[in-house]
Amino acid sequence: MTSKAILGTIQRMDNNSKLSTQPYKGVRDFYPKDMSVLQQIFNVMRKSVEKFGYLEYNASPIEPSSIYQAKSGDEIANEQTYNFLDKAGRNISLRPEMTPTIARMIAGRDQKISLPIRWYSIPNVFRYENPQRGRLREHYQLNVDIFGGEPEIANAEILMVVHEIMTGFGASTTDFAIKINDRTILADIYKKFEVPKEKIKDVSRLLDKKEKVSKTIFDEALESLVGSEISKPLAEILSSPEFIIETLGIDNPGIKNVIGLIEKLENYGVTNLIFEPTLVRGFDYYNSFVFEVFDTDSENRRSLFGGGRYDSLTGLFSNEEIPAVGFGMGDVVLQDFLKTHNILPESLTPADLSIISVDQNSYDDVYLVARKIREFGLNVDIDISNKKVGAQIKRSVSNSIPFALFIGEEEIRNKKYNLKDLRTQEEKQLNLEEIVEVVKNSK
Ligand code: HAM
Repeated sequence: MTSKAILGTIQRMDNNSKLSTQPYKGVRDFYPKDMSVLQQIFNVMRKSVEKFGYLEYNASPIEPSSIYQAKSGDEIANEQTYNFLDKAGRNISLRPEMTPTIARMIAGRDQKISLPIRWYSIPNVFRYENPQRGRLREHYQLNVDIFGGEPEIANAEILMVVHEIMTGFGASTTDFAIKINDRTILADIYKKFEVPKEKIKDVSRLLDKKEKVSKTIFDEALESLVGSEISKPLAEILSSPEFIIETLGIDNPGIKNVIGLIEKLENYGVTNLIFEPTLVRGFDYYNSFVFEVFDTDSENRRSLFGGGRYDSLTGLFSNEEIPAVGFGMGDVVLQDFLKTHNILPESLTPADLSIISVDQNSYDDVYLVARKIREFGLNVDIDISNKKVGAQIKRSVSNSIPFALFIGEEEIRNKKYNLKDLRTQEEKQLNLEEIVEVVKNSK
């Protein structure tokens, strides 16, 4: 630090103005109640994917910028990624997604890890977006991916995992729908309608935005891209799966892929798949199967999360291209969904009981009693405020602690304590073993 910088810091410290308590724009603080809800969401995610044997991995949120520039798509890589220069002049980024990271890790893996690889992670990811409902600048995103394996089976398994997670949260199959498509179908349609090669990327980008704009705006944009001779029949074909099947035939590989998936999932008891021929998804790396999960509630008909097949991303890092499929599920949109359907987990408190000191100033004996109770496997909170009993009870109730244990000098002497169930107001005088039993039985 230069002397000028030090002086600046000291002067700023002298100035009595306070710093804002607000977090940075578009990111969240998690107070304990919010953190408890988030942890329970993570627990449902973990439990669901571990049922299928997925292993958890993680990595640093800082990555070399180059890994996003090749394949993530211009919008993510250039407009939405936090890019920095580090002190040595390296271009680095805060990860806007996890897929390039897992591809890097798999490409660099010890060859002894044999395929198929099933991995999951719940990283925080960062995107410089305009904060709005469902869109923030930092969110947590469950990533579930399979590398290797039979592609059609892996695609189907990924959708089974989606179903497992959603039902794990308590959603029923009518609460959400899974739109699926195969990008090769679109490629075949573009060929059939002679969409100029140099326009294909823009047409696909337009399709990706189709749900967000009116039909008139979509039709006009398509016409300005490819001319009315192509745009009119193209828009019509794309409006219905039946037209697509009629045009390309039932033996078209992409169509077979989609129909095969619908059949496989039906066989597994999952019946909420919809063939959506205009579904593209934003990333350049998806090469065939893509899907997106939607809320069916008419108030909240939005995309919840999605993913797809990306068979060549590891090719950025090594000569071996390992086919892969997976998805990313963000916690922000998911929480909106869970709230809409009244299935958001309630926050929990870890403490099973709170010790309320009645008349002593020394807490030594209280801590010893607490230690004994903890040895029996219960979590014990101690109020060390020395406030009146009423104020201590109020604090326990506001922290949702189910029991209060009153300890004063007399209780310590007699080894009998008053235990109060703060939910029913029932109070009993008990010894330590009995206290543990009552609290454990009430769980
Ligand atoms: P994505 O569609 O960009 O895919 O993001 C996945 C999900 O993350 C979204 O559907 C949404 O739930 C959530 N999400 C994305 N951006 C935001 C944001 N700004 N604020 C809140 N939530 C957000 C991917 O990222 C792919 N890498 C997923 C993947 C994994 N594909 C294969 N494996």
